[in-house]
Amino acid sequence: MAKALNLGMIGYGFMGRAHTNGYKRVADFFPDIPFKPVLKAACARDAEKIKAFADQWGYESIETDWRKLLERKDIDAVDICVPNNLHKEISIAAAKAGKMILCEKPLAMNVAEGEEMCQAVEKAKVANTVWYNYRRIPAVTFAKKLIDEGRLGRIFHYRANFLQDWTISAELPQGGAGLWRLDAAAAGSGVTGDLLAHCIDTALWLNGGIADVSAMTEVFVKERKHALTGKTEKVTIDDACSFLCHFQNGSLGLFESTRYARGHKALYTFEINGEKGSLKWDLHDLHRLEIFEYSNEGATRGWKSVHITDGDHPYMGKWWVPGLAIGYEHSFVHQVADFLYSLGSGEPCHPTFRDALETQKVCDAVISSAKDHSWKKV
Ligand SMILES: NC(=O)c1ccc[n+]([C@@H]2O[C@H](COP(=O)([O-])OP(=O)(O)OC[C@H]3O[C@@H](n4cnc5c(N)ncnc54)[C@H](O)[C@@H]3O)[C@@H](O)[C@H]2O)c1
Repeated sequence: MAKALNLGMIGYGFMGRAHTNGYKRVADFFPDIPFKPVLKAACARDAEKIKAFADQWGYESIETDWRKLLERKDIDAVDICVPNNLHKEISIAAAKAGKMILCEKPLAMNVAEGEEMCQAVEKAKVANTVWYNYRRIPAVTFAKKLIDEGRLGRIFHYRANFLQDWTISAELPQGGAGLWRLDAAAAGSGVTGDLLAHCIDTALWLNGGIADVSAMTEVFVKERKHALTGKTEKVTIDDACSFLCHFQNGSLGLFESTRYARGHKALYTFEINGEKGSLKWDLHDLHRLEIFEYSNEGATRGWKSVHITDGDHPYMGKWWVPGLAIGYEHSFVHQVADFLYSLGSGEPCHPTFRDALETQKVCDAVISSAKDHSWKKV
């Protein structure tokens, strides 16, 4: 019989909804989880809006101040789904209050903040995880398995892109609800912390540590009206970022992210080339993994596109029948399930805060390299 795990959700936006969907569905599809999420409380500043969210998604109560939520004895775990500049303060207070923490990415605004957060959760010995959810898309999890089995052999190249086009208009304001990503005071950085952080987390997981980076960033629209002050202000986030890197295993990395790639909405792709084979993945076709194996050389050689929907593929045995695809939202169900299994086993649920700090280190090195046009060690 699963024990109750009382959750407090902070934020009701995009991720507030994606995570809540995960909590609501997990017990139906992962009936062997040792803990069952209970939607105890939802928290945001606007009482009317958070009440509407709580009623729609099934939370039992609301709070309008996250400090009040942390004081509550009936909350076991908090989920931080608010802009990046709030992650540190809430996480450290939550750790001190003895709450388990599921925090959105990027972990923090910078490495110094992230280090403080790691120390706080480690001192308090509270379970923690960071929502780098792409690890838990079955095709990506399967890529990890193939690499760990040595199926690619020595890795030579790792290439990743995350392309969007939603900030091309110079009329788009910065700051405030929905547009905090354009305001460095709330986001920390632009595409580096928002999009490349995902590519970096996946890369570190699949291909190991990054030794050094050489980056360039660009701000295409230099000034935007600030939604909160009404004034036209300098844009201080990075609109686009590309970087080269050396991985610790000797392979070379090439990463690109932008919100100015007309026609692309969320094109996250990666390709890995090894001595014995290559892998390719594309978020727009997320249930497929493209695989090339050199051992198959012969007249029928070529890339194969494997539909990662069979019972022996990661997580897929829990869903429908072989051949039927699942989607983006299921990566959050998987992360909830793995977090709950980890509470049962006492093992950490990766990526932990400490794991996510490694991604933060690469992001900081990238921003620093772009500033003075030089290679930076991570
Ligand atoms: N894992 C992913 O793929 C992914 C995707 C999108 C966003 N994110 C991350 O999730 C976090 C939230 O992003 P989002 O897209 O859900 O943003 P959003 O703008 O949709 O929602 C932000 C929420 O934070 C709330 N909020 C702001 N200040 C608050 C405060 N002081 N107290 C309580 N609530 C407050 C807002 O009311 C809103 O509900 C960010 O850190 C972002 O980087 C991760």
